[in-house]
Amino acid sequence: MAKQKVVLAYSGGLDTSVAIPWIKERYDAEVITLTAELGQGRDLEEIRQKALNTGAEKAIVMDGQEEFVERFVWPALRAGTIYEAQYPLATALARPLIAEYMAKVAVEEGAEYVAHGCTGKGNDQVRFDVSVAALAPHLKVIAPAREWGMSRDQEIEYAEKHGVPVPNTKANPYSVDENLWGRSIEAGLLEDPWNEPPEDVYFMTKSVVAAPDAPAYLEIEFVNGTPVAINGETLGGLAIVNHINSIAGEHGVGRIDHLENRLVGIKSREIYEAPAGVVLHDAHRALETLTLGKEQMRFKEIVGQQYADLVYNGLWFSKHREDLDAYVNSTQEFVSGTVRVKLHKGTCSVVGRKSPYALYDYGLATYDEADVYDHQASVGFIKVFGLPIRTEARRKAGL
Ligand code: ARG
Repeated sequence: MAKQKVVLAYSGGLDTSVAIPWIKERYDAEVITLTAELGQGRDLEEIRQKALNTGAEKAIVMDGQEEFVERFVWPALRAGTIYEAQYPLATALARPLIAEYMAKVAVEEGAEYVAHGCTGKGNDQVRFDVSVAALAPHLKVIAPAREWGMSRDQEIEYAEKHGVPVPNTKANPYSVDENLWGRSIEAGLLEDPWNEPPEDVYFMTKSVVAAPDAPAYLEIEFVNGTPVAINGETLGGLAIVNHINSIAGEHGVGRIDHLENRLVGIKSREIYEAPAGVVLHDAHRALETLTLGKEQMRFKEIVGQQYADLVYNGLWFSKHREDLDAYVNSTQEFVSGTVRVKLHKGTCSVVGRKSPYALYDYGLATYDEADVYDHQASVGFIKVFGLPIRTEARRKAGL
């Protein structure tokens, strides 16, 4: 009888590498690895070879960068999706796309199982398991690091016994997940929330001290809430994200120290780097302040929080997300225009915004002679607006 096949989401790190011989042994199965290129800045051919050397039957790399930006990052940006006011969700947004690729490859290869390297106490296991269940409910999910019950030392011993290269954990004591929308760094001394993150956790961003003294300016143009050009040059989504990552990172913009509430009930401390995420959310919000009405702004804020929770909690492939997208896309009808940001010593400041659809009206706002506001109309307005509080005041005075 032909062996079972398992499609393993493979990063090339220790956990997913140990998972290859572990799955083969435990499930008597063939392992097909799948590595998604999402801008993690790694040599993917090297990772592919490592998978094969570690015992994978087949090693697949899929480039999902454009798709990640267009289908996941941009909708999240339009919705204003930031978890607990800090985290632009780089890791969380990538999981459903990886799960989609896993399911696709599993169907193509006739595999009955998919596998991922997540432990039993993180959010990512939920995102993978739930996304796979939503897309291909017939697939069974194996999570070796959740099942094997090995300590770190036992895992290293297992790795050495099975010829899996063991990275020097002294040189890199952190757990890192990375893609083009940002980097997530945890573990090591970061587990004490009192410890300031040392410089060596950062990779995408310079320190404020090392950042240039002179500021950089960017003009970011949006059409219907989606970034389309920088400094007058029309660019694809991926190029826009990459460009802003490098210039904002150079100026030390995008470092986030977050003590967050995980879905699985624990608080954890994560450091994020998201230069493009921070800049684009700031710029997008600034354009919305110019082009959306007051009630739209306030209600959309609530929708953005719902959206962020849903992404964080692994429910990307839900009808609820589609419903929220429909609302958000409707709000973006007039969110077109240009925002000017200044990047300087770790900060991103919006210093200018313009739009042909601005609700800001100079004639109404100005204090100079161009003023067209009807000052006298305020008298009657205040009379009616203040009526309830005058009634209250009479009662208080016993009148
Ligand atoms: N806390 C983040 C999330 O749940 C990132 C998780 C992965 N982090 C990591 N350093 N491996 O989305």
